[in-house]
Amino acid sequence: MIFKISFVQFNPIRKDVSGNITEIQALLFGHRADLVVLPELANSGYLYKSPEALIPYTEPSDGSGEFLSAIQSLAKSIQGVIVTGYAENSHLNLYNSASAVSPDGVIVNYRKTHLYADEKILFRPGDSGFKCFDWLDVRIGMMICFDWIFPESARTLALAGAQIIAHPANLVLPYCQDAMITRSIENKVFTITANRIGHEELDQNSLKFTGQSQMTHPSGTVLFRAPENEAIVITSTINPNDALNKKISYQNDLFKDRRPGIYGI
Ligand code: ACM
Repeated sequence: MIFKISFVQFNPIRKDVSGNITEIQALLFGHRADLVVLPELANSGYLYKSPEALIPYTEPSDGSGEFLSAIQSLAKSIQGVIVTGYAENSHLNLYNSASAVSPDGVIVNYRKTHLYADEKILFRPGDSGFKCFDWLDVRIGMMICFDWIFPESARTLALAGAQIIAHPANLVLPYCQDAMITRSIENKVFTITANRIGHEELDQNSLKFTGQSQMTHPSGTVLFRAPENEAIVITSTINPNDALNKKISYQNDLFKDRRPGIYGI
């Protein structure tokens, strides 16, 4: 089976939802893929003083807002599904979320489980649980950025049958890209980390985002790693069924050999 996957790496500008839409549209102009992954908070940018300051750049998860409806139009033009990070507003409760958006609209919404640093000031902890959806008979799971440091995130998705993990990110720590190779090996799944580039400052806080968006194969092979600071779309053609075989040796199966009774709490 042939499945075309892409990530978009770019620099989301704070307080400029329309400008961010225009940039994503330009990067995906004329593009065709089965699955495209965009960075975390691709509508809003990252640093805000308070939830109140962020609210004007948030929208509901039903796809009716400016950003997700533009993403739906893009899903139509690429003829595939787009997983994008965005700032969600649910009755004035804000979540750091990712939506899978098809040509027909939002399929599923995931709210980030593990918030990083001052995200705890802006967002509520995600309450959706980890989410998968099926597209063209391929099961795709979603996690967001800092979820990577908790192996339980990728493991939960893999146990739910995810063949590909779509991973919108705004990474600032240097370890994730290498750690995602391990997440791929220990779960035998594809991973697509769509990271952002650029730099943001607010008061004493100064963040440099690490770029190097990446795709990995269930074998742990890095299919592509993007440059550190370039807006770019990278595409690979994969066989998602490579993620179905969990055998590590003729005697070992990654999932059947697990011993939760021994692991304790
Ligand atoms: C992060 O989770 N955005 C570092």
